[in-house]
Amino acid sequence: MTTYPKTARLMQRGADFLGSETAILCGAMSWVSERNLVSAISNAGGFGVIACGAMDPGLLDTEIAATKALTDKPFGVNLITMHPQLFELIEVCGKHGVGHVVLAGGIPPKGSVEAIKAHSAKVICFAPTLALAKKLLRSGADALVIEGMEAGGHIGPVSTSVLAQEMLPELAEDHLIFVAGGIGRGQAIAGYLEMGAAGVQLGTRFACSIESIAHPDFKKAFFRASARDAVASVQVDPRLPVIPVRALKNKGTEEFTAKQREVAAVLDREEIAMDEAQLQIEHYWAGALRRAVIDGDVENGSLMAGQSVGMLKEEEPVAVIIDKLMAQSEEALTRR
Ligand SMILES: Cc1cc2nc3c(=O)[nH]c(=O)nc-3n(C[C@H](O)[C@H](O)[C@H](O)COP(=O)(O)O)c2cc1C
Repeated sequence: MTTYPKTARLMQRGADFLGSETAILCGAMSWVSERNLVSAISNAGGFGVIACGAMDPGLLDTEIAATKALTDKPFGVNLITMHPQLFELIEVCGKHGVGHVVLAGGIPPKGSVEAIKAHSAKVICFAPTLALAKKLLRSGADALVIEGMEAGGHIGPVSTSVLAQEMLPELAEDHLIFVAGGIGRGQAIAGYLEMGAAGVQLGTRFACSIESIAHPDFKKAFFRASARDAVASVQVDPRLPVIPVRALKNKGTEEFTAKQREVAAVLDREEIAMDEAQLQIEHYWAGALRRAVIDGDVENGSLMAGQSVGMLKEEEPVAVIIDKLMAQSEEALTRR
């Protein structure tokens, strides 16, 4: 890889922590972040992360082994905290000596951080607020990702720029904070690094790389879309808290509204409890995303995408994407 000294210097802490050449993570994307994309990212000097949201321990075991066969570089595994087999999944990561486990989807349940650390792996958590960020660091998180609402997939209510201003001045000197959400170009990376970020995480930009196994029609929908097409889902029933998901508008968006009404009605009849209702909503997303990513059903499936989707114009190899991001960051830092 060409050297980009100013960017590399600012990324040094993050890259040392990840064991990668650059501190650019490809955030886990269900169905998309499997062996091919994850190994390609790590081989190209980034840090790939396997998405395990839709996997059971057996599938994760196979996926980690297959990824290891394609790269000898470090990569991570993303586990969803509400997964019913979370602790078995942690054991699978431990068995393979996975160096970094990312815990997504809420506060890590009791004992999960300790279970990961028992295998000498590093723990990365998502921090939605400053107070929670401090709590997670006190509870043993080795690094945090702060992700703004510009991102694709499940999102919080606050933008990346505001989270970065709130959290980086207070935390970045003593802790490793990676910034995610809405990053499409290296100039933005330079800005967050200068504010103290240890590195960045991107998803949308890599979902359409050549190495991504996403269906050609899924990728085409991304290339056609503009930033304003990537909209957040709306909650239709105040009693059923649904984490918003950012995705390209299509028929599936309306179907999700109908699904929420259906689950709310079942909840009304007291046939299921609230956590079961929320789990049904999450299963709905996993199924809808699979339909779009794997089957190419871009009408009814979920086209999870961040607002940076408007900057995607063509399919490129991940090595080219990473190199462009680094070059753009370097150019911005040099111009300062
Ligand atoms: C198609 C898609 C699927 C995603 N699935 C997951 C997931 O399963 N788990 C997770 O923690 N984040 C998921 N994300 C979020 C990404 O890991 C990443 O943090 C996000 O895409 C970064 O913002 P960006 O899209 O603006 O680059 C997903 C994002 C996309 C676009």
